[in-house]
Amino acid sequence: MTATRHPQFPNLIVFDHPLLAHKITLLRRTDTPKKVFKELIDEISTLMAYEVTADLPSEACEVETPLERTAGTHVHGARITLIPILRAGLGMVEGVMRLLPTMRVGHIGLERAHDTLEPSDYYFKIPPDPEKGHFIVTDPMLATGGSASAAITFLKRSGAKSIRLMCIVAAPEGVAKLASDHPDVPVYSAVLDRELDENGYILPGLGDAGDRLFGTL
Ligand code: PRP
Ligand code: URA
Repeated sequence: MTATRHPQFPNLIVFDHPLLAHKITLLRRTDTPKKVFKELIDEISTLMAYEVTADLPSEACEVETPLERTAGTHVHGARITLIPILRAGLGMVEGVMRLLPTMRVGHIGLERAHDTLEPSDYYFKIPPDPEKGHFIVTDPMLATGGSASAAITFLKRSGAKSIRLMCIVAAPEGVAKLASDHPDVPVYSAVLDRELDENGYILPGLGDAGDRLFGTL
């Protein structure tokens, strides 16, 4: 897997891997059925999670092999919390947790108004002691950036300090908004698309991720 800082957006880490590119191509197709769409979001999330978690803290420990005691490494999964932005962010949870099942999961419910594109919140539940943990916010789509920025603002208000954003398709407008509102938050995206259309949809994009995941088209 190759994940590198984008030359134009220092807050953005983008991926360059043929398997990811292949799966994103399938995800974009209009005729990809709901079941396959969901599986692709899940698989892409697992592939990305390897890099998104690369700099999270680990501790030295000892392990008993059948032959002797040796040095090992332990990652405290319970200190890492996934925060899916409802609804579409939910589709990424299992894929990330496959690599570290002891992670906790918080939820932030946000909905973007179709006319103003402004996000409003309807749910917020995260584990206690947020200042001690590491947070990975998941949402497959970063369009205007309004939803992700609001979710991160809510998290910071609750005390969270170590936050990263994991999305699958990002628009330059959303990445720029995150750089301006939350310059301390790295944004991991499988791909950076061209632009937004007049309705705030990402081009070329994949349409409405929540609707395609949950069959509410
Ligand atoms: C979509 C998507 C993001 C948001 C991105 O959610 O899942 O959360 O839009 O757009 P933005 O960057 O311009 O804020 P939506 O509000 O449609 O809700 P849903 O997940 O329930 O479909
Ligand atoms: N939300 C989506 O689901 N898709 C877009 O293209 C933009 C926002």
